[in-house]
Amino acid sequence: MAISDFDLVFFGGSGDLAMRKLLPAMYSRDVCNDLPESSRIICVGRDDATQEEFLRMVENNSKPHIKDTVHEPSWTRFLQRITYVALNATDVSTYQKLIEALRDDPSLTRVYYLATPPQLFAKICDNLAATGLATPNSRVVLEKPLGRDLASAKQINLDVGKVFAESQIYRIDHYLGKETVQNLLALRFGNILFEPLWRREWISDVQITIAEKIGVGNRLGYYDNSGALRDMLQNHLLQLLCIVAMEPPTSIAPDAVRDAKLQVLRSLKRFTPTTLSQNIIRGQYRAGYIDGQQVPGYREEPDAPKSSRTETFVAMKAEIDTWRWAGVPFYLRTGKRMADRLAEIVVRFKPIPHSIFNQPTSSFQPNSLVIRLQPDEGLSMNLMAKTPGDSMRLKQAELELDFREQFKAPRMEAYERLLLDVLRGQLTLFMRGDELEAAWEWVEPILEHWEQDDSAPAPYTSGTWGPAAASALIGRDGLQWREES
Ligand code: BG6
Repeated sequence: MAISDFDLVFFGGSGDLAMRKLLPAMYSRDVCNDLPESSRIICVGRDDATQEEFLRMVENNSKPHIKDTVHEPSWTRFLQRITYVALNATDVSTYQKLIEALRDDPSLTRVYYLATPPQLFAKICDNLAATGLATPNSRVVLEKPLGRDLASAKQINLDVGKVFAESQIYRIDHYLGKETVQNLLALRFGNILFEPLWRREWISDVQITIAEKIGVGNRLGYYDNSGALRDMLQNHLLQLLCIVAMEPPTSIAPDAVRDAKLQVLRSLKRFTPTTLSQNIIRGQYRAGYIDGQQVPGYREEPDAPKSSRTETFVAMKAEIDTWRWAGVPFYLRTGKRMADRLAEIVVRFKPIPHSIFNQPTSSFQPNSLVIRLQPDEGLSMNLMAKTPGDSMRLKQAELELDFREQFKAPRMEAYERLLLDVLRGQLTLFMRGDELEAAWEWVEPILEHWEQDDSAPAPYTSGTWGPAAASALIGRDGLQWREES
C-alpha cells in the first residue's frame, strides 16, 4: 500500500533512539523511494540547537548507524526533509513553534512519535490537544517502556486515551517488526502442515530465548529500575509466545490478531508465591569474558549500586491453560552478557511411539522446529534420516531455510517496517491497550514477590548461558536448553 504525504514528528528527536534507530530507518526507506516527495520529519528536542547544529548532530550521531553504504545525494535529500524544533514538551506555551513547523493541511497524515520517557506521555498528549494539534487524522506512537507495572500501564492507556482513540494509538514492540515474527505467521497459517500438529498431542515443549552479549551499557539509570523481566520478558518474549500459541485468527486484520493474542495472555497460568519460586530463576551477571574481552560484573558497571538486586537474566517455565496447550511447558529465557547473541523459538515434538528399526526409540531425536530471529533469520526442521550406506541407521538431519539465501531480497530492519506501518495506518503489528494490560497483569505477582523477597538474583559469569539454576529448571523435566544439549 502506498504511503500518502505526511508530517512525522519525533518527540525525543535528538535522543538516542531517534539517532540510532528512527532516523536511520527513515533514511533507509527514503533511499528505497517509499516516502512521498514532500513528506517531512520534524524532530522535537529540548536542546536549544539551530537547524544547522541539529543537522550536524544527525550527521555525527545518526549517519554512522545506517546499515548500508550511504548514498550521498540521497542523504542530502533526506536531510532536507528534517526540521528541528526546540521546545519544552511539558510547556504548552512553547508549542507555537511546532504549530508553525507543521503544514496546515487536513489531508496530510500526521504522526506524533513519543520517543520520550513515559512520564511525559500524558503531558505531551494534553498539550497536543490544547493546541489543536491532535486532529482526527493524526496518530500517536508510544515507545517502551509502556509502564513499570499494571497501574502505570493503565495510567498511560487512560492518559493517552483521553486525547487519542485506540485506532490512533501505535504501541511499539520492535520484536513484532522483525522479519521472522511475520514469517512465523506465514509458517503457521500459510501451510497446512503445521496447524494439525500445533497442539498438546504432538508438541512436547516450546523454548523461547532472547540472549544478548551486550551488558547494560550506558542505560544503567533506566535498567537498574527495570531489570530483565520488565525490559524484555513482559513485552518481547510474551509477544513471541503469543504468536506461537495463539488460535488461528480469522484474518490478518489488527483486531483479529490482537484478539487472538489477548486470549493467550489471559490464559497464561497465574503464578502463586510457591509456583513462582519453583518456576522462575533470576540472575545477575558477574565479571567474565565476551569474545575474549574481559567485561565487568553488573555491580561494577559505572554508577551501579554495589548491592543492586536488579536481574539481568530471567528463565521461567510458563503454562497456558487451554485445551490446545494444557500441560505443554513454555520455557522462556532472556539475559544480558550471555555466551552468544541469539533470539530463537524451538518447538519440540513428541518422540515416536515405537521403533521398527534395530535402534531403540530412545536413539531417535524428537523432531524439532527452530525459528531463528537473529542473528541469521531462518527456520530449521530437525528430522531423522537414514545415513548413507548399506546399514539402516538413522541419524538426525536438518532441513534448513535461510531467508536471506532463499529470497535474496533486501532486508528491512524492524523499525523500518514498523514506521512504514504507522504511516500506512496498519495496526496489526502494534499492541492494543488491553493486551498491554493483560501482559502486565500476568507479570505483576512476580514483581510483587521479588519486591518483598530480599534474596539476591543468582550470579552467573558473563559469557555463559546464565546461572546453573536455569539449566536445573529445565533439567528437572528431563530437558535441556537447545544450546546446552
Ligand atoms: C530493548 C531492550 O527493548 O531490546 C534492550 O530495552 C535490549 O535492553 C533490546 O538490548 C534488544 O533488542 P534487539 O533487537 O537488539 O534484540
